[in-house]
Amino acid sequence: MSPESLRPDRNLALELVRTTEAAALAAARWLGRGDKIGADQAAVDGMRAVMDSVEMDGIVVIGEGEKDEAPMLYNGEKVGNGKGSATDIAVDPVDGTTLTANGQGGAIAVIAVAPRGTMYNPGNVVYMDKLAVGPEGAGIVDIRLPVDRNLQALAKAKGVEVRDLTTIVLDRPRHAGLIDEIRGTGARIRLIRDGDVAGGIATAWPESGVDILFGIGGTPEGVITAAALKAMGGDFQGRLYARDDEEKAAAEADGFDFDKILTMNDMVDSDDCFFAATGISTGDLLRGVTYRRDRVYTQSLVMRSRSGTVRMIEANHSLEKMRKLA
Ligand code: FBP
Repeated sequence: MSPESLRPDRNLALELVRTTEAAALAAARWLGRGDKIGADQAAVDGMRAVMDSVEMDGIVVIGEGEKDEAPMLYNGEKVGNGKGSATDIAVDPVDGTTLTANGQGGAIAVIAVAPRGTMYNPGNVVYMDKLAVGPEGAGIVDIRLPVDRNLQALAKAKGVEVRDLTTIVLDRPRHAGLIDEIRGTGARIRLIRDGDVAGGIATAWPESGVDILFGIGGTPEGVITAAALKAMGGDFQGRLYARDDEEKAAAEADGFDFDKILTMNDMVDSDDCFFAATGISTGDLLRGVTYRRDRVYTQSLVMRSRSGTVRMIEANHSLEKMRKLA
């Protein structure tokens, strides 16, 4: 890198956090109301309202689906004010729609941004097998190895015993074998109902007490997690997963390879990506939106991979002024 390119410049993530705050503020009104579509739509509308004020020439690579199904933030949509850098955008206005609808903790609003052409496009491949660790596990674990080998290697790197490690796994029937394998090693398991973006990031967040994430979850969520772990110095590895032969054949015809190990660089091929997340409901990583008499409080994580700076941003917003702006 030239000295010129090492100079501090604009950190887009500090603007992007306004989009995740807006999504979280809107979605949090739907907490526990049993309507996940309503919560998601509110978050999309909230995020969209702020997005065009962000200085970038963005294209949504991972969004709410195809144009015909999603009125906003659809794949291929142009976002930002059209000035500034050309970027790829991955958004998940609510990761944890069911958590939000049921009033459960751990839902977050997220966005990841990378230079144009550097973000992995998962097409129609819904699921990915994932392995995520924080900095101490980077270069140590390998998704091709059996679970016990990875746990032993991670325990050694962390200077603890395997039984001291806490794994995080989505609570799904498809993970019955994985859960048995982990239990066989003596490691602890935190089973989560939803939200493996927050689960993956938690592995690099010491306060969370989580050491490693295993298991199959959404492919778009995998790419977003990879962007965050890049900034945090952790590692993320993935392998596409098909639910049946038909799905696999269709994806293979589109050029997807189910044997390939997708590294963090395969998912975000740049050392200058940005990430922001805001808590909707309180979880391991972030506090959810809290209302007081005339203020509303949010907590967000903001990161940039080039500098490796991770910021926790607490904001309190004026309810009255927000109402006027809305
Ligand atoms: P939604 O917010 O879109 O419902 O996603 C929640 C989530 O738990 C993701 O975090 C995870 O990657 C995915 O769903 C897992 O998919 P499934 O619920 O089909 O197992």
